[in-house]
Amino acid sequence: MEASLNILIIGGGGREYAIGLRLREDKNVLNLYFAPGNGATKALGKNLDLKDFDELALFAKNNDVALTIVGAEEPLTKGIVDIFKAQGLAIFGPSAAAAKLEGSKAYMKDFLARNHIKTAKFLSSDDLSEISKFIDGLNGRVVVKADGLCAGKGVIIANSKDEAKKAAADMLSGESFGEAGKRVVVEEFLDGYELSFFAICDGENFVSLPVAQDHKKLLDGDLGPNTGGMGAYAPSSLADAALIKRVQSEIVAPTLKGMQQQGAPFCGVLFVGLMIVSGEPYVLEYNVRFGDPECEVLMPLIDGNLSEILYNAAVGKLSSISLKERFAVGVVMASERYPYGSSKPALIEVGGIPAGAHICYAGVSERDGQICASGGRVLVNVGVAQSLKQARDAAYALCENIKFSGAQYRRDIAYQALRDKI
Ligand code: AMP
Ligand code: GLY
Repeated sequence: MEASLNILIIGGGGREYAIGLRLREDKNVLNLYFAPGNGATKALGKNLDLKDFDELALFAKNNDVALTIVGAEEPLTKGIVDIFKAQGLAIFGPSAAAAKLEGSKAYMKDFLARNHIKTAKFLSSDDLSEISKFIDGLNGRVVVKADGLCAGKGVIIANSKDEAKKAAADMLSGESFGEAGKRVVVEEFLDGYELSFFAICDGENFVSLPVAQDHKKLLDGDLGPNTGGMGAYAPSSLADAALIKRVQSEIVAPTLKGMQQQGAPFCGVLFVGLMIVSGEPYVLEYNVRFGDPECEVLMPLIDGNLSEILYNAAVGKLSSISLKERFAVGVVMASERYPYGSSKPALIEVGGIPAGAHICYAGVSERDGQICASGGRVLVNVGVAQSLKQARDAAYALCENIKFSGAQYRRDIAYQALRDKI
């Protein structure tokens, strides 16, 4: 790897901002480019108005970009990595073939079954009568999922068999999720708690990151509709060393082996969405990228040179990773109508940044040098400290100092881990 690097980050959310912010701590990082970036990434590097993968690869070539990092799943499933690699460019992320682990739930479930990795009992089908029969054989709540990518919205948790059958019928007709729902996965409901497990992989080997927990529901106490995630923290005390070991040996290692065996070795970050049921780890889903807002709390916990870690993984020569003995808590501030609709742009006023806290900007634009909330998840306030409680307090102290019209956020991020400790 060269002494001074130019790095291109694909995406424009809080996750990509967090990666950029962390890379700015690496002494060897020279220029950062974001495509498309957001109103705040401009302060970390340069935003590019390029979408086409060939144009991005050309930009990387012409501007001595040593490493490209892909934030979101869509460009991965559409093959951005294959295009860059074909041109000899280093890029952190899986090929389109490996990204199918996230791009198709039917593929993912079949992969899990074939490799004897624990997951909810399921049927994947496009035939309503077969699906109805399977639903009749399940006990309790039923989960119905569209096969393809639906920006986190294609999962229905049905309280009755009739509701589940109707959800499946609506998906199959193309009414609810278009093409993505023309095949569905129906599965048993798993009752437990969720964790987000991340492994940086070079196709053959992996290193794990601290275990994080996301908060997907909009409201305190895990009530209200599902969102992209309203806050996260790491490391989570809900994952002890024994559980981590089991996830590594029973899930991550067989996943990498299975992907190698089918000719689609997994390079990049493997994000395993886990449900822990009576101490047993089940795979709910794979994602083929960092989680958002998990990434915002993981970045400050990584010690050493991040660009080197990601570069080495991208070129198949994984290096070790050292972690800071710290906790991080991230609280998402979202716009007024999130997740239902768009909101009017609103000026963000920052009253001060408390010690141990920082902002990761997401849904923001820039107007006359000022940062405006432009909708959705606007920013993530991250607290980093020696204890989870201190980290939580720093993140919430920052929330108090940030004002924009219609801002909403959860007051209970990390409650499951702090429950017994307050
Ligand atoms: P997925 O996109 O598959 O992760 O599903 C989105 C969310 O739905 C998950 O984060 C869980 O909260 C929930 N979910 C998905 N599958 C199940 C299941 N089998 N049992 C219980 N909850 C589930
Ligand atoms: N926070 C969950 C996700 O990024 O999918």
